[in-house]
Amino acid sequence: MTGAFPIEKIKQLETPFYYYDVALLRQTLTNLSEESKKFGYHIHYAVKANSNPRILSIIHEYGLGADCVSGGEIQAALDAGFPASSIVFAGVGKADWEINLGLDQDIFCFNVESIPELSVIDELAKKKNKIASVALRINPEIDAHTHHHITTGMKENKFGINLSQLDEVLLHLQRCTAVRLIGIHFHIGSQILDMEVFQQLCKRLGDILHFLGDRKIVVENINFGGGLGIDYDHPEQHPVPDFGSYFEVFHRHFHPQPNQQVHFEPGRSVVGQCGSLISKVLYMKEGSSKKFAILDAGFTELIRPALYEASHKIENITSDASQEKYDVVGPICESSDCFGKDVSLNQVNRGDFIAIRSAGAYGEVMAMQYNCRKLPKAYFSDLI
Ligand code: LLP
Repeated sequence: MTGAFPIEKIKQLETPFYYYDVALLRQTLTNLSEESKKFGYHIHYAVKANSNPRILSIIHEYGLGADCVSGGEIQAALDAGFPASSIVFAGVGKADWEINLGLDQDIFCFNVESIPELSVIDELAKKKNKIASVALRINPEIDAHTHHHITTGMKENKFGINLSQLDEVLLHLQRCTAVRLIGIHFHIGSQILDMEVFQQLCKRLGDILHFLGDRKIVVENINFGGGLGIDYDHPEQHPVPDFGSYFEVFHRHFHPQPNQQVHFEPGRSVVGQCGSLISKVLYMKEGSSKKFAILDAGFTELIRPALYEASHKIENITSDASQEKYDVVGPICESSDCFGKDVSLNQVNRGDFIAIRSAGAYGEVMAMQYNCRKLPKAYFSDLI
């Protein structure tokens, strides 16, 4: 965090809630913009990571485009001021109304994942007398070495067009009169910290461009998707991801043609570190060998630990007492409702405020109402 939590203000608010450090978000966006501009890269923020309207409107101020995966996200991006001409639309299951929304708004590009989808876009575009711009989402068959629930670029994943089907897709494209191929798209997974993986992606891209070149196909846009990870263990040491080194990998290993534009779709790396889930301790409970800190937040507010075994740094922000170990759990009637086991925290008492850090991405957006719970509110450092 670029400043400590405003404890006295936080204590006045009803928990649990999301707290966003706007100064840190701005610092991240400034760094992202500067580093991407060095190479002329185009950035489309992955709205799925956090679609809170205020977050979207701050991101929009920095001139980024938007990467959307549903009609709802397209609408949220438009409402926040993102121009349709900067919107890319991905997803394996685009419904007709969502495609129609994209066509009506003249979005920049549909990232297409299958032949049947290509046919539907072609058919719907014809009905509107429009030409849809499409990019082929190719599954590059690269292992991103991340959690199996968030890896997407391997043969067995449902995403993208397999390399072996590329010829068939290109043949099909020739029959589509209302779509124009403008690019190729990849997204190999999320929370990737091993830069070697991106280097492999560049190499695979080279092979694919060669393959397309042999068939006299030139694509103007290359979209590498998102995936850059953040430091969940030490958010204070790495509040802003190393965008410089990330882009440097692509710059070194992929040399675009003069007429080729390079695009990225970062989500987590933009918003992850600026958000914390703030919760209050309801009860302290002693088990036979453990101490439990029972919070008023559960997986209904932040599902990442339960769903992906994700670990978030947890802090007692209202105590200076010496540290002890606790299992930090929520109130939901499921054993998986646990934020961390044997977590060292400043001695915890009922009423203490607990911050679960690095929760700005895939936190508030994935909240749910299981157990008839209320969706969490959001507060911003510059407005409380
Ligand atoms: N582009 C596409 C096509 C995507 O599917 C994703 C994320 C992104 C971009 C943004 O990726 P990022 O830069 O955020 O890694 N809920 C999971 C993460 C799911 C990511 C899904 N796709 C989590 O909490 O870890």
